Amino acid sequence: MFSFNLKYKDLNKFFDENGFKPDITIVLGSGLGKFAEKVKILHTFDCKDIPQYPPSTIIGHSGKIHYAEHSGKKLLLFQGRIHFYEGYELYQCLLPIHISKILNSKKVLLTNAAGGISSNLYPGALMLNSSFNGMQIKKELYKVLAPMSIYGINYLRNFPSKEFNDLIRKSAKQKEVDLQEGVYWYTKGPTYETPSEVKMVQKFGADAVGMSTVHEAMFAAYFGIPTAAISCITNFASGISAQKLSHSEVTETASLVEDKFTSLVKGIIENI
Ligand code: HPA
Repeated sequence: MFSFNLKYKDLNKFFDENGFKPDITIVLGSGLGKFAEKVKILHTFDCKDIPQYPPSTIIGHSGKIHYAEHSGKKLLLFQGRIHFYEGYELYQCLLPIHISKILNSKKVLLTNAAGGISSNLYPGALMLNSSFNGMQIKKELYKVLAPMSIYGINYLRNFPSKEFNDLIRKSAKQKEVDLQEGVYWYTKGPTYETPSEVKMVQKFGADAVGMSTVHEAMFAAYFGIPTAAISCITNFASGISAQKLSHSEVTETASLVEDKFTSLVKGIIENI
C-alpha cells in the first residue's frame, strides 16, 4: 500500500476519521447509479469535496460516494467510477478499492455496462462475470502493484470469488432474476470496439466487452477482499447487430433494467 499511502495522505486521513465499517462496497456502473435511491442513505460525499479524488467526467456517473444501509447491512456505494479512458492514471481508477481497503470493507461488488457478444447476451440481460480478460491493462496494473509486492500479483487466489459468485447465483434464484454468466473482456477505449475487434475477442472466448472493472477486481482480490462483478448488457457489441452504438443507448438500456438490477443487488445484500 505504500505508494498509495504516500500519494493519498489527505484522502486516507479523510476516510480513516470517519470510521464507517462497510459490509459491502458496490460500484455502480454506467446508468446503474439509481440503485442509490433505493436504499437508505446515511451520508453522501460529493467527490469534489474529497481531497485528491478525481472528478467524474462521464454522463451517467454522478460522482457521489454514499454510506448507506439495507437489510441491516452497511453499504459503501460509489455512484459512478473513474475510468482509464477518461485519461486518468490507473492508480487513480483504483481509488474506490483503495477506500474500501481503508474502511475494511468485507466484500466488493462491481457493476458495469457492457456490450453483448454471445447470443444469450441481448440488451437488458444481466451477466455474472464468471471470469475476466484484462490483458490490455496488465502492464498498467503491474506498475501499481509491483512496488507493493511482486508475489501477490502472481497469486490472485479465488478470483473472482467462488463463494461470492455462488451467493449471487442463489440471490438471483430467490429473486427470480434471470442471470446469465460469461467472460467479461476489458477493452481500453476510449472508443467502442470496431466490428473486427469484437470478432477477434469473440474467437478468444469473450462473451461481453466493457471498459472498466477488471483492474478494480484484481486490485480488490489482491487485498484478499472477496470480489464479484455483474454486467448489465446495454447493447449488442459492435458488429453483432447493424445498430450504431451510442452512450445514450447504454444509459437508456441500463435504466430499463433498473427494477431487476435493484431486486438482484438487494437480494445479494440480504444474503451476505
Ligand atoms: N463496448 C465497450 N464498453 C461498453 C459497451 C461496448 O459495447 N457497452 C457499454 N460499455
